[in-house]
Amino acid sequence: MAATASDTATLTLGDLSVNLPVVTGSEGEQAVDITSLREKTKLVTLDPGLGNTASCFSKITYIDGERGILRYRGIPIETLVEKVMFVDVAYLLVHGTLPTAEERHNFSQLLNFNSLMHEDMRHFFDLFPHEAHPMHILATMINAMAAFYPNVDSQSLVENIDRATARVISIVRTMAAFVYKKSIGEPVVYPRHDLSYCANFLNMMFDSPVKPYQIRPETVRLLNILLILHADHEQNCSTTAVRVIGSAQVNLYATISAGISALSGPLHGGANQAVIEMLRMIQQDGDVGKFIRKAKDKDDPFRLMGFGHRVYKIYDPRAAIIRRECEAYLKTIHYCDPLLDVARRLEDAALADSYFIDRHLYPNVDFYSGILYRAMGIPENMFTAMFALARLPGWVAHWQEMIGSRTKIVRPRQVYIGKGLQTADVFPSKNPLLI
Ligand code: ACO
Repeated sequence: MAATASDTATLTLGDLSVNLPVVTGSEGEQAVDITSLREKTKLVTLDPGLGNTASCFSKITYIDGERGILRYRGIPIETLVEKVMFVDVAYLLVHGTLPTAEERHNFSQLLNFNSLMHEDMRHFFDLFPHEAHPMHILATMINAMAAFYPNVDSQSLVENIDRATARVISIVRTMAAFVYKKSIGEPVVYPRHDLSYCANFLNMMFDSPVKPYQIRPETVRLLNILLILHADHEQNCSTTAVRVIGSAQVNLYATISAGISALSGPLHGGANQAVIEMLRMIQQDGDVGKFIRKAKDKDDPFRLMGFGHRVYKIYDPRAAIIRRECEAYLKTIHYCDPLLDVARRLEDAALADSYFIDRHLYPNVDFYSGILYRAMGIPENMFTAMFALARLPGWVAHWQEMIGSRTKIVRPRQVYIGKGLQTADVFPSKNPLLI
């Protein structure tokens, strides 16, 4: 399924003319291969934000942003959320196929065996300030894993990839729940071997010695759906961070820590928390139109959080599923969230406004997910950690693919626009205080 070399593009600049190969992907996407451009012409390309650059070949996830299509290893997300669990999707992303019954059993065993974090790491949690954001704690803790679980370097994949994947997915889940328990001053709850991945997480989050947690199957189902929908999204900002850092052949944990840090930003995964903060602000103010006007005002830094996407120019297919599930789940658990009404009104107003229509701005994955997390009892500062938990298999799959394709170290060029050569008279006369 390698991309095929089909056409040739010709670049002409003055008297210079050069032919560049055009490659075609398995879904018909075409790209001009510029790897020989600089050698042939001394020219580089300029693409800030890389919005027009394919940084690699990949077989993991396919997105068609014009038609609202998202597939993992060829399978539409709509089918995956109906038919399988998050653990199957994790396996699918890393291996390329869904697990057989035996492979699933073995993978589940690995998830179970690797769910405990090294006991010495528990002390780290005591040292963070109480109000520290979970994403900052997670990024630090995952980086520290390299010290406790060595041998996952990118040069020699000395560990079995299943074990590495299971360890990352399982321990980070334990860590995320520990972060929450510590933040509310409750004793931590250990993972249980008899619970599925999502049920285990919910139990670690909400079980308490004085109030046992009742695991609801509909909540477990919903968490599976949310994690599946966030599991991968090809070369997004955090996955690109993982690939860039990984290209220097650092260990897997360092790359994932970089992914977590990138994800924490409000323009990326941090948007899910920012959406709820925005909806609350609009609810208190009561005037949806005022916030639409603010979002359109170029002198106002305010943007509609959870709206817009670099790739989707149509309704984000993940947001469509989450909105549907959100309405259904709130009904099932008889929970009325006034922020859902604000979100609906805001969406309707934006989708009827020419500013948003002309720019193809629609709700993205983060617009409704926070409302669901709230209904599940997950606190706002944990929303982005939930996203991180879900994205782990995607990051591992991309890291693995990058190592396998022997990617060169990522090291872009630039167009220098600074000063020319400076002469000696730019140095200040000697500062007497420094003598
Ligand atoms: N509210 C108001 N205007 C917007 C918004 C928004 N949410 N998003 C984009 N625009 C406008 C821009 O101002 C710009 O207008 P202009 O052409 O008049 O200058 C135009 O739409 C294009 O926007 P860009 O910022 O160039 O688009 P880009 O692809 O670089 O950014 C992004 C995509 C970061 C997601 C952007 O839409 C945004 O900031 N959205 C809000 C934050 C958010 O929800 N992030 C989560 C994304 S999903 C994810 O990462 C998991």
